[in-house]
Amino acid sequence: MITLTINGEEHRLDVDPRTSLLDACRDHLGLTGSKKGCDHGQCGACTMLVNGRRINSCLTLAVMHEGDEITTVEGLGEPGNLHPMQAAFLEHDGFQCGYCTPGQVVSAVGMLGEVADGWPSNASKDLQNGAELSGEEIRERMSGNLCRCSAYPNIVDAIETAAK
Ligand code: FES
Repeated sequence: MITLTINGEEHRLDVDPRTSLLDACRDHLGLTGSKKGCDHGQCGACTMLVNGRRINSCLTLAVMHEGDEITTVEGLGEPGNLHPMQAAFLEHDGFQCGYCTPGQVVSAVGMLGEVADGWPSNASKDLQNGAELSGEEIRERMSGNLCRCSAYPNIVDAIETAAK
């Protein structure tokens, strides 16, 4: 039995120790916002935040995250009370089929948090916040999130709006 703290709520789970964090959320807790695209760390559709940092939840075991603060897309906002990043994706049509969108949105929120924290330490020290990122820098920092529909220009526009 493990206890996971997800979107501010504690969940007791009886899962096989080999269960990924993604499968624990999707198959045991009904948190299906995070998507399984590749299941081996290449697409970013499963992106969650662990203690504010982005992670491919398909690559990590649920049992490794007791005591962590886990955020999924369900924890960002809800209909009628969207997170600014979700609202910006809507405003800019930052999606086509939408499959990658939860991962894109969570990753973008985490990415702006990283910039604000000056993390990683080898990143530009001059950046104060995400509003200073160029479109190219956003693409680079979001390169772990693939969109097969190639909605990248609108995704970048959305992130630029949310960063302001
Ligand atoms: Fe985890 Fe693709 S499903 S990176």
